[in-house]
Amino acid sequence: MIKKIGILTSGGDAPGMNAAIRAIVRTAINSGIQVLGIRDGYLGLHQERIFELKRDDVADILNRAGTILGTARFPAFKDEAVRKDAMSILRKHEIDGLVVIGGEGSYKGAKLLSFEGFPCVCIPGTIDNDIPGTDYSIGFSTALRNVIDDVDKLRDTASSHKRISLVETMGRNCGDLALYASVACGAEYVIVPERQFSLDELYKNIDDGLKQGKRHAIVLICENVLDIKELAADLETHTGLEIRTTILGHVQRGGSPTAFDRIVASQMGSYAVDLIKRGVGGVCIGIQDNHIVHHEIAESLCQMQHKFDVNLYNLSNLLI
Ligand code: F6P
Repeated sequence: MIKKIGILTSGGDAPGMNAAIRAIVRTAINSGIQVLGIRDGYLGLHQERIFELKRDDVADILNRAGTILGTARFPAFKDEAVRKDAMSILRKHEIDGLVVIGGEGSYKGAKLLSFEGFPCVCIPGTIDNDIPGTDYSIGFSTALRNVIDDVDKLRDTASSHKRISLVETMGRNCGDLALYASVACGAEYVIVPERQFSLDELYKNIDDGLKQGKRHAIVLICENVLDIKELAADLETHTGLEIRTTILGHVQRGGSPTAFDRIVASQMGSYAVDLIKRGVGGVCIGIQDNHIVHHEIAESLCQMQHKFDVNLYNLSNLLI
């Protein structure tokens, strides 16, 4: 019989994490299960910063980005001795199962804890949308909305001045944010880690646009692929036009979560509690073909890969 569950958020914060926390707390309390929050991810667990989360503690957070629990990156959790201490702390607080909301790094910690005997359920929370075993992760939809808002604004000014706007998005090593935004914003070119980048093709797309009378060109670039300043210098030499570069940075992670992020986070949070109640651990939750599903964390990390949407990439190139 499950009496107490713990929650932590780990890695980069993602809009919608609070909606998931709220759903976990309320679903658990409705089933007579007590909920303990752990501050600042695995770091806070290591430091035993644990407190009870009551129904009212999660009021008015559904519409707020970030995470009320705080988050951190804590590489020391790879150390077996650190995890052993963490497990003793979880047991000392009589926690029966732990919900971990975060990205791939957070999944790895939860996988090891589960292997070592403590049941964890993971919820995908990252704006990068790079987690295997799910079509979408919490935060991606909001970050995408943020990127689109900013690129629309950049287009206004680029058109006025007849400039080329190079815009770098986050995503770590996953091109989804740049790719989806390129379709939504009608970018002239998108540069993602999953596809070879061709300077000739980029020149051609921009030149074609200019010949058709376009007064701007938008190029979306996923971070960590190339140096945006070097690309700007190349383009300036080639086109003779003025170039402006924008690195969107952390604004992508803030702002009120979209309806999609709030709803999926609520579904996943509630589903996580149901899994723990059924004694299921060592799993991660996803949304696939519009259904909430779960997989073994190990299977998801080792055998699945987040799919790059080739059709969307082709569409992005076709619609310029
Ligand atoms: O994983 C989310 C993310 O925002 C990445 O897109 C980005 O590369 C990284 O986190 C930035 O990390 P930090 O917030 O630690 O600067």
